[in-house]
Amino acid sequence: MVIGGIVAGGIGSRMGQNIKPKQFLDLAGKPVVVHTIEKFLASPEIDKVVVGVHKEWIHLMNDLVEKYFDGNDSIAIVAGGSNRNETIYNIINCAKEKFNAPADTIMVTHDAVRPFLSLRIIEDNVAAAREYGVCDTVISASDTIIQSENGEYITDVPIRKQMYQGQTPQSFSIELFEKVYGSMTEEELQIVTDACKMFFLRGYNVHLVEGEVNNFKITYPFDLKMAMTLMGDESK
Ligand code: CTP
Repeated sequence: MVIGGIVAGGIGSRMGQNIKPKQFLDLAGKPVVVHTIEKFLASPEIDKVVVGVHKEWIHLMNDLVEKYFDGNDSIAIVAGGSNRNETIYNIINCAKEKFNAPADTIMVTHDAVRPFLSLRIIEDNVAAAREYGVCDTVISASDTIIQSENGEYITDVPIRKQMYQGQTPQSFSIELFEKVYGSMTEEELQIVTDACKMFFLRGYNVHLVEGEVNNFKITYPFDLKMAMTLMGDESK
């Protein structure tokens, strides 16, 4: 079984508006998260979708599934956690409960706020998770990456060719996630909120899947404007 795990449990504080989290903002006539779910449903690789939503917005998410997907019972909704990994943990429990997902189920976990995910990226994630156990989607860094430990002076300028920007999906089996998540200390769980970082810290080879510039994350108001422009271009 292959499940799309859409993480939508955040509140989008950097978006700087307090009406609703960015995953519910309108993008060309539909909420951002609806576009993202559509991508997963369009993929022949994906059997089910589980969306992890901030508990205060579960009601709205239920309404959206009803309105845009006719209550499609391949989509389940669960309360998100206090950080991204906890949201994934809840998504996995929901997948087991609602869809009887076996331990070897591949979870393709993806940010709700990256609506330009391509079917090719989903396909490559599923193949890489099957072959290597765990994978992360990245693009080569186009700018030089500057490291500064104190925010005042440069502490390192790493070789650009070795630098990548992390995107999502991040994919792995349920059993592998549970093993690694279960091995983290309480303190680590507070600090390490990225799933692939957890795997890396426990010595796993996290395979790289090539992302796309379009697969950017809507974080700031500028990103939403860019997404609107791109949606306009796609419909031409
Ligand atoms: N996310 C989640 N559960 C959390 C926190 C974040 O599922 N407890 C999700 C967000 O909903 C988003 C993705 O992780 O789809 C990427 O996180 P980010 O862009 O940081 O989203 P927010 O945490 O919502 O944004 P901000 O940091 O600006 O508050």
